[in-house]
Parts: sequence; C-alpha cells; structure tokens
Amino acid sequence: MYKIDGFDISSHDRSNKIVNIKIDNEILDKLVFPFNKFDITALEYKPFTRFTIAKSLDDLTLNKLSKVMNSIVRDRNTGCFIFSPKNINSKINQTFLIKLSTAIAHLIGIPNYDSMAGKYYARFHVKHEDRSDSYLRKAYINMDLHTDGTYVKEKTDWLLMTKLEEKNAFGGETTLLHLDDWEHCEDLYNDPISKQNLLWGSPKSKKIDYKVEHPVFFEDENNRIQISYIDQFPEPKNMEQGVFLQKLSDALEESKNKIIIKLPVGSSLVVNNYFWLHGRKPFKENKDLSRELMRIRGAF
Ligand SMILES: [Fe+2]
Repeated sequence: MYKIDGFDISSHDRSNKIVNIKIDNEILDKLVFPFNKFDITALEYKPFTRFTIAKSLDDLTLNKLSKVMNSIVRDRNTGCFIFSPKNINSKINQTFLIKLSTAIAHLIGIPNYDSMAGKYYARFHVKHEDRSDSYLRKAYINMDLHTDGTYVKEKTDWLLMTKLEEKNAFGGETTLLHLDDWEHCEDLYNDPISKQNLLWGSPKSKKIDYKVEHPVFFEDENNRIQISYIDQFPEPKNMEQGVFLQKLSDALEESKNKIIIKLPVGSSLVVNNYFWLHGRKPFKENKDLSRELMRIRGAF
C-alpha cells in the first residue's frame, strides 16, 4: 500500500478496490493559510487560483499525494478512493471542504464545466420536498447505479463527490459497483445492442440543449470493458433497444456485489467513471432531512 507522511492509506473494509486516504489534521491546519488567500468567488472566476491551492496541498506531501491519487484512480484494480479528514473540527467548514475538493480535483485533472450549476462544480441539496425533474434530488427514491456524463460531449473520466452536510438523514447510503465484480457484465456486453449507438438526452434542469449518441459499452486500450450508462437519459428508438435497457437496468440493480457505504460528512469519494457505477439508496422519510453534496466531474 502507498505511504505518505501525515496520511493513513489503507484498503476499505468493504472492498479492496476502494482505498481510504485519511489526512492528519496537522496537514489540514497548514492548508488554512494558503486556502484563505482565495475566497470561493475567486476560485469560481479565476481558474488558475484552483491550481494554486492544489499545489499548496501537493507541496505539503512533497508531491506524493498527486501521484498516489492518480495511480489509484487510473488503476483498473482500484479506481476509487475516499479522502477524509481524520477528525472533523470547526476549521473544516463547507468553504474549507469546497477548497479541499477543488485541490484534490485539480491534482487529478481538469474539471468539466457543470452546465447545471454554471461553474466548475455543483452543489445540490436533498430535502424532504422536491419539485425537480431528475432523480438527483428525489430523497425517497432509489437512485439506480449509473455513470456520469452520459448525455454530454465532454469526456468524463472521473467524478468527485464531497458530503458537505447531512442532518436527520437515515438511509441514503452510497452504492457502488465495479464492472469486474458485476456478475452479468459479460452477458450484457455480448448482447449486440450493447455496442449500438443509442441516443442520450437530458431534462431541462441539466441545461444541455443537444443530444449525444454513444453505445453503453466500449473497450479500453487493453480490451477491458467500460460502461457509460444511466437509466433516465437513453432514448430507445425501438423495442430491441428498450428491452436491452430494461435487462441492463435489472441486471445492475439485482447485483449481489454492490458495495453499500455511508460516506461521512467531510469525506470525498473519487471514482473512475468508466468502470465504477454509483448510486444512492433512498432516505427514510423525515421532514427535517437535509443533505448537501458537492460534485466535480472532469477529464484526466
Ligand atoms: Fe451520478
């Protein structure tokens, strides 16, 4: 396993494909000063400042952190890490977490413009009541396993999600599935429809005014299967495509190898978007439920 002074790095107890990276509060304390140089508006308006704070973080680890995070996310045998402060204290507030997440993201690659939010990241709240048009904010409905960026032209190599807040939340666990653990992967991949171009659109809130075409499955340079799929956005043109998508959806949701984890407040989940699928279990009904996530999606 990797070693960096000031970090505990170990396999997650639910899966050896997930790496836990726990950062000492002493290191976080050293970030307070360089992070204070920029407020959130500066980070949003001046892209180079995001690299400045990313460099502050990496410099504190003698540039080892960027190497470790990149090898985990690009490695098919892992592809996922959870980055957490060892102790959450008052210095680690939402502003600090947005800056820390920005730093992590910029050590991995370049964020895509998030059309829904109109900036390089998005924050979204899940609450008791919701009037939106996608599953993102539906607290009491299962968000099925999917990958991100299925309906955009940009490459979405990786995805970061940070839990900024969670109150009165029961349930709502994160679900994850690595393609190599999925019992039905070969079976679905061998279906001819899986390599056909499908049409992918998106609802109004996503603010994308075009549609894209791509197959569900494709291969990497080493002929390993990769996936780009979400249940809500493909627009089947005929019965064969509809039947295939239903079969795919059922085969993902019934997988016995899904990993269910409770992401703590202050933690960031980073996954390779080509071979890890993610989702969320429903929350238990509570009128005071409030949970906020921040996400950044990008290319290497
Ligand atoms: Fe997602």
